[in-house]
Amino acid sequence: MLKIVVLVSGGGTNLQAIIDGIENQTIHNTEIVGVISNNRNAYALKRAEQKNIPAACISPKDYENRALFYQALLKKVHEFSPDFIVLAGFLVAIPEEMVKQYENRIINIHPSLIPSFCGVGYYGLKVHEAVLQRGVKITGATVHFVDSGTDTGPIFLQKEVYVEEEDTPEVLQRRVMEQAEWLILPKAIDLIAQGRVFVSGNKVYVKEHEIES
Ligand code: GRF
Repeated sequence: MLKIVVLVSGGGTNLQAIIDGIENQTIHNTEIVGVISNNRNAYALKRAEQKNIPAACISPKDYENRALFYQALLKKVHEFSPDFIVLAGFLVAIPEEMVKQYENRIINIHPSLIPSFCGVGYYGLKVHEAVLQRGVKITGATVHFVDSGTDTGPIFLQKEVYVEEEDTPEVLQRRVMEQAEWLILPKAIDLIAQGRVFVSGNKVYVKEHEIES
């Protein structure tokens, strides 16, 4: 059983896609052992509570400085003893120490086709605003492993989404979620739970079949 902790900041629709995937068995052999939000008002916390998933808020506002906040965040993660960490719309840069301790055991969903429209400052609606401003015809979402940079880790899964002429950032954000994020994040977790994913350097390899142990 793959035990995952999901880190969230907002609405939690990606968290919901994971919960639904486990319930309808498109994600196998996986348990969400905890949900952590940096934002007390995140609806994602309600989604966890509704399903009796242990949920906690670790807010930077409750700590004197970044280092203490990071310490508390890491402590909370440890309390859940996860095998794997999923960043599902988590808007905080994660501590260097966490990246080290969970090397190749953290994934993130980003709402563009990396390496376009990613890195510092590209989060939430800003990504989709930039996509529309640049006038690209195809965008999408990426699941990647997390390293110490911002959106620089090994790319795992990507899915394209077409931009329409009349799109607003909000409309495009919703389509990217529906047609890409909610599909590839659960799929990524399922592949990991099946033991089919290997990271080597900056490349991610997916084995066709589960390895017999
Ligand atoms: C998603 O677009 C995710 O890719 C981005 O933030 C949004 C979070 O949405 N990083 P939700 O909280 O999962 O609804």
